[in-house]
Amino acid sequence: MMMVKFQAVESSALDWSGDGLVVSLFEGEVELTGSLAQLDEKLFGTVKELIAEKEFEGKPGSLAAARVGGGSSIRKVILVGLGQRDNLTLEGIRLAAAAAARSAKAEKCKTVAVSFPVWNGAAAKTARAIVEGVELALFQDSRFKSEPDKNHTVDSVDLLGLVGVDEAIAQAIQICAGVNLARELVAAPANACTPITMAEMAQALASELGLELEILEKEDCEKLGMGAFLGVAQASDLPPKFIHLTYKPRVTPRRKLAIVGKGLTFDSGGLNLKTQGGIETMKMDMGGAAATFGAAKAIGLLKPPDIEVHFVSAVTENMISGHAMHPGDFLTASNGKTIEINNTDAEGRLTLADALVFTEKLGVDAIVDLATLTGACVVALGDDIAGLWSTSDELAAEVNQASELAGEKLWRMPLEEKYFEGLKAMHADMKNTGPRAGGSITAALFLKQFVEKTPWVHLDIAGPVWTDKEKGYNSAGATGFGVRTLVNWVLNA
Ligand code: BES
Ligand code: MN
Ligand code: ZN
Repeated sequence: MMMVKFQAVESSALDWSGDGLVVSLFEGEVELTGSLAQLDEKLFGTVKELIAEKEFEGKPGSLAAARVGGGSSIRKVILVGLGQRDNLTLEGIRLAAAAAARSAKAEKCKTVAVSFPVWNGAAAKTARAIVEGVELALFQDSRFKSEPDKNHTVDSVDLLGLVGVDEAIAQAIQICAGVNLARELVAAPANACTPITMAEMAQALASELGLELEILEKEDCEKLGMGAFLGVAQASDLPPKFIHLTYKPRVTPRRKLAIVGKGLTFDSGGLNLKTQGGIETMKMDMGGAAATFGAAKAIGLLKPPDIEVHFVSAVTENMISGHAMHPGDFLTASNGKTIEINNTDAEGRLTLADALVFTEKLGVDAIVDLATLTGACVVALGDDIAGLWSTSDELAAEVNQASELAGEKLWRMPLEEKYFEGLKAMHADMKNTGPRAGGSITAALFLKQFVEKTPWVHLDIAGPVWTDKEKGYNSAGATGFGVRTLVNWVLNA
């Protein structure tokens, strides 16, 4: 596991020496004045030459790198663009830091320093964004490669000109540990990440971080009447695991929060079997659970003083076999509601139904669930934006604010009650799927049947959980989407 050593140093670029110096520049402000002119002089005019030669304009995320000759104490200089000064955002800094880190790695710099402007007078938030950008961009998952990764790594990153941000740096590292856990869980294939290994992972988190752990086995779930979850689980040769981790602060909590994640370690579709072009990526169908446990890791490390947090996932696979649920079967969830299964591929909402009922019984003040729930949400919002549904404007606003701070995009969607018509069944309380139109909305309305009165947010993360190609601070593959939003939500609760 690569570990970058981050530290804030008060001094400016003028006093720094090492392999790679990252200088960030605003668009249209690339003429060198003041300390930049001084720096350029120290670097024998390399910065000026580089700007001219590469026609560097400071466009967001743009890069230019050059060797500094003449035995300079700084080996390479890397320019990164920030875009227009007036449009600077934390996400812009995060993305620029990520681009710079990748460039530093490609330029074989081991010791790196970065010089970024402070966003909005907020040094701590700026430091966090820089560390997140670097840490998330440099993360590499070579667990399943036969040869260990021999790539060059960045050893240290000094944050120049920032003071009083040591705690922010430490926090960002802990948050990224949570994001990277989520990425590893999602990236692991269904023959390596199973309900059993998920339970083992939760056990490891519990003992490392002092979290409470409850695992309900199949028999325990039967006793609680979790017929919807168990209906999905019944075709698998692997035992289902209902996982419940709890972070408890030392003092009586001011607020009790819950995070619930969809945990399908594989979704074949069941007897409504998926086909090529859909089925082979369905290891990612535990992305909600991954975000949940990634957040558990981060929260367990950060130890917020007065917030209790529950982390819940009903983990199983959706498989086919002689004992699979049939299309047309009726299932009874743990709140007594009956469901006609008109499509076995709408399994996530079935597992979540029992998970939500269980979670509400814990007596929490708010519930956020995350699920790779519908292809319809991807059609509606594309690959980069998660859908948000909520019964509470206040909670929706909290989660929205947390996501903005994280740079994870959400868009609120309607819980259009009228559309529940589409889920009406002849002999059961509801069907598990409605018409094609508004598919992500009826999915959310289905979940709503299993939350009585607790303020609740549902996030459909089917799009952003995965990226086919490198994008910003995400490398190709699992993104760990949701973890940073969840952590921000808990920390600001
Ligand atoms: N896990 C899928 C949703 C999904 C699709 C996630 C694409 C990530 C990428 C979910 O269980 C599912 O199969 N949903 C169906 C619902 C339909 C049967 C109403 C879908 O979206 O097609
Ligand atoms: Mn499915
Ligand atoms: Zn699914």
